[in-house]
Amino acid sequence: MSPAGDIAADFRDVDGADPGRLAGFLLALGADPDFAAVKRRTLEALALRPGDRALDVGCGMGVEVRAMARGVGRGGAATGVDVSATMIARAREGAPAGCRFLEADLHRLPLPDGAFDAVRAERVLQHVEDPGRALAEMVRVAAPGARIVVAEPDWDTFTADLGPPEVMRLITARRGAAIRNPAVGREAHRLLTGLGCRDVHPEPVAVRVHDPALIEPAYELRAEAARAEADGALGPGAARTWERDLDRRLGEPGGLLTILVMVVTTARR
Ligand SMILES: C[S@@+](CC[C@H](N)C(=O)[O-])C[C@H]1O[C@@H](n2cnc3c(N)ncnc32)[C@H](O)[C@@H]1O
Repeated sequence: MSPAGDIAADFRDVDGADPGRLAGFLLALGADPDFAAVKRRTLEALALRPGDRALDVGCGMGVEVRAMARGVGRGGAATGVDVSATMIARAREGAPAGCRFLEADLHRLPLPDGAFDAVRAERVLQHVEDPGRALAEMVRVAAPGARIVVAEPDWDTFTADLGPPEVMRLITARRGAAIRNPAVGREAHRLLTGLGCRDVHPEPVAVRVHDPALIEPAYELRAEAARAEADGALGPGAARTWERDLDRRLGEPGGLLTILVMVVTTARR
């Protein structure tokens, strides 16, 4: 398991971390109004039709695969792929007919060329070893003309209304740096274009999180301050002040606003 509180490292290897905690986090995040709006936007952009074959890579517990299955109807099929055995087992629990789940690494999809009419990824490319390779696999399994939709954050946009600006910038920059591919949200446009996709369109969507119950699990502002103090980037006084202000603001209704831009990139194979 990764050092306590490193959710970015945990999502690279869910089965080696605490899958129950990560599953709870995914559900809480999916219930957040702004993250839910990003999910809806990706599903709209897939423009699913009855009979389509749809794929979600890095599907987690398969919530969107179920939505995709409703979109493609009885004549179609929705497939979810995830590298985590635990996530796939949870996704399979009570899944309706028309949903199929595969445990596989998205760098090497065990799926034939051109097999899908719609291919989706959300908040997974930020964690993988090689996002270019992963996108190439998504393009390979898409049929000519298929819709491809990718929703990933641009961590350079992450801000929080907390603390002196220089401390806030230090903490939020470190949070981004803890992510394997913090810029993939803005890179997906170039990578998909380079892979020969057509009609590639990046749409930035700002996500506001001010629910105290979600801010810490999602962004780990306290853990980041502790890590900054441990490696000397932040003095003990500044770290303590940050933690105290964080506690106070999390306890006030509407006390803390965070903003992160997600980029929803749509394309055609
Ligand atoms: C942050 S979760 C997002 C899950 C889902 N897309 C959602 O929006 O709720 C990232 C998921 O990607 C999966 N993942 C990470 N690396 C992967 C890889 N190389 N291949 C397939 N899935 C991967 C993790 O197991 C985890 O379920």
